[in-house]
Amino acid sequence: MNADIVVLPGDGIGPEVTREAVMVLRAIAEQFGHTFTFTEYAFGGASIDKHGVPATPETLQACAQSTAVLLGAVGGPRWDSVKPEIRAEAGLLALRKHLGVFANLRPVRPNPCLASASPLKEHLLKGVDLLVVRELTGGLYFGTPRVTRLVNGIAVATDTLTYTATEIARVVRLACTLARSRKKRVTSVDKANVLESSRLWRKTATEVGSEFPDVAMDHALVDSTAMRIVTSPASFDVMVTENMFGDILTDEASVLAGSLGLLPSASLGDGGPGLYEPIHGSAPDIAGRGIANPMGTILSAAMMLRYSLGLPEEAALVERAVDQVIADKVLTPDLGGTAGTDLVGASILARLRAANQ
Ligand code: NAD
Ligand code: IPM
Ligand code: MN
Repeated sequence: MNADIVVLPGDGIGPEVTREAVMVLRAIAEQFGHTFTFTEYAFGGASIDKHGVPATPETLQACAQSTAVLLGAVGGPRWDSVKPEIRAEAGLLALRKHLGVFANLRPVRPNPCLASASPLKEHLLKGVDLLVVRELTGGLYFGTPRVTRLVNGIAVATDTLTYTATEIARVVRLACTLARSRKKRVTSVDKANVLESSRLWRKTATEVGSEFPDVAMDHALVDSTAMRIVTSPASFDVMVTENMFGDILTDEASVLAGSLGLLPSASLGDGGPGLYEPIHGSAPDIAGRGIANPMGTILSAAMMLRYSLGLPEEAALVERAVDQVIADKVLTPDLGGTAGTDLVGASILARLRAANQ
């Protein structure tokens, strides 16, 4: 297998965690006789510093021509006062749009060895295996107008929440397809009691659901869903929701796993390269200290092996190695341990090598 992988380390802890994930991918390539080529570009704040913009046309083009993209995280206080159009986060949104990756898969499967790392009672975590499918290229993040202006001397800011039936249908269809190889249940999350866009979401989701008679679909409002995530998380299988609801609910769901630093993601479109990134940000509060948890990024690399490179066995091997290192209690401080980023990475590499001997 030959793969051209673009690496965008980004800002803050981004470079610290992507370094470990690239080492894991290199080890997999070596052990299984694959050829992975890695090309790195400055992205986000690092690209603002170097080129004056968070994502250059060359970087976007290289990503579009790659097999897959691995991203750390972008943003941080250093770039918070730049113009909104060139914020680090705007570069990430531009990349997602450029790649057309409309579905962001965020799995949450708490490891029983980490039950004490979650503030939730252990019995609530039993059997939790949730896959959130977050719509990624529509909604409030992209709708126009998006503007602040003065009306009668008062500042008025507007964001726009727009969804087309086509945008809703394709992400719900993907969620239903994924549910077929799981417990065959999809919860579509909206705010249809208030928002017009959510009423279209629910109507379209229902129509798409009828294409999948073997998948049970239910609809839930986002506010009570936020509660259910912490009161009965095991009651979910696949959850599909719009961009901003998915952003918020998955940071909440990371509490089930024990740390935001554990959660991976895969962003997929209709063919073309996938984008793989942990769900966390650049963590400015711990950046540069060598204590960031690299597991979310390493598990994102495993998702890359599975979804973009078609290497499910290699993906499972990486996931098993992470589980073993968790069982060995080699943990960063966010999970109550004392290990550094590099020790966690090296331990995962050692487990990978041992598994394949
Ligand atoms: P954050 O996710 O960076 O951090 C939230 C908390 O979780 C912090 O206490 C942090 O230390 C901790 N944390 C996050 N990842 C961790 C890891 N791997 N190991 C250990 N602890 C970890 O969110 P924030 O502080 O609200 O945002 C910081 C910056 O990151 C902002 O500029 C934001 O826009 C950006 N951001 C970027 C992305 C992305 O690039 N995909 C995602 C979220 C936030
Ligand atoms: C995420 C982040 C991003 C988002 C930001 C940095 C644009 O929070 O990937 O979850 O809101 O999508
Ligand atoms: Mn987020």
